[in-house]
Amino acid sequence: MTERLDGTVALITGASSGIGEATARALAAQGAAVAVLARRKERLDRLAAEIKDQGGQTMVIEADVTDKAQAQAAVERVVNELGRLDTVVNNAGVMLLGPAVGAPLEDWERMVHLNTLGLLYVTHAALPHLISAAQDAPRQVADLVNISSVAGRVARNGSNVYNLTKFGVTALSESLRQELAGRHVRVSAVEPGAVNTELASHMRPEARERSMQRFAGIERLQADDIADAITYIVTRPRRVAINEILVRPTEQEG
Ligand SMILES: NC(=O)c1ccc[n+]([C@@H]2O[C@H](COP(=O)([O-])OP(=O)(O)OC[C@H]3O[C@@H](n4cnc5c(N)ncnc54)[C@H](OP(=O)(O)O)[C@@H]3O)[C@@H](O)[C@H]2O)c1
Repeated sequence: MTERLDGTVALITGASSGIGEATARALAAQGAAVAVLARRKERLDRLAAEIKDQGGQTMVIEADVTDKAQAQAAVERVVNELGRLDTVVNNAGVMLLGPAVGAPLEDWERMVHLNTLGLLYVTHAALPHLISAAQDAPRQVADLVNISSVAGRVARNGSNVYNLTKFGVTALSESLRQELAGRHVRVSAVEPGAVNTELASHMRPEARERSMQRFAGIERLQADDIADAITYIVTRPRRVAINEILVRPTEQEG
């Protein structure tokens, strides 16, 4: 039942590492032209070269999605240079866990700016293009995939503002799904458990240590495992919408 993505264009935010990088490779392997977006251009250039070596089409966008103008310009560049936009994977995110009492407000602001506002800026700019793509593409369907988290379904002590942002992503996805269903723009939320990426490296040392302890002895997911779930969503036939996928490491309880 898998439908290849030849002739389609995908934009993946946060593609310089982890889940976004793996997703760019996976969608390119399905035939999509992939626009890879993040702030670390040299990492994107390396990924783009690798995708091109494999025969794929790609485009590098160095941008900070927390800047409204940069997020809008990025979407417009994709449409101008690659001709259309069929798939958006809103993946860029940051997780700064720790007690709320005494937390640096800057950590909370970073999470809200990136996980919530950054995702909204890209989504707002992309929606008209996704609606057109669903009308004129041979497949007659387009996809908006938002990367939420288990933290978008289960609140935990110490996850506070990360929970706030990811619950928001899950709720927004369901609301947009209902609004866009009739126009064949599928909106999905993907909710990973612990994945072995750079995500935890941005936390303060005590919080990172607590997180390491929580998952000690557990085999974490690989970024490819989540890229696989995203690929499954966007390669379904037009009549099939996968609304939500929750993927935990087998041994992760909560
Ligand atoms: N790893 C997990 O256990 C896990 C679990 C559940 C959900 N998630 C979610 O999965 C998503 C991807 O995370 P990951 O695990 O793959 O972590 P990661 O390796 O740290 O990737 C985060 C990506 O976001 C990009 N990014 C950060 N700030 C940005 C900005 N202002 N503008 C544009 N791009 C920005 C980073 O690139 P630059 O620094 O180059 O900009 C990087 O490519 C996040 O939304 C995260 O919340 C991860």
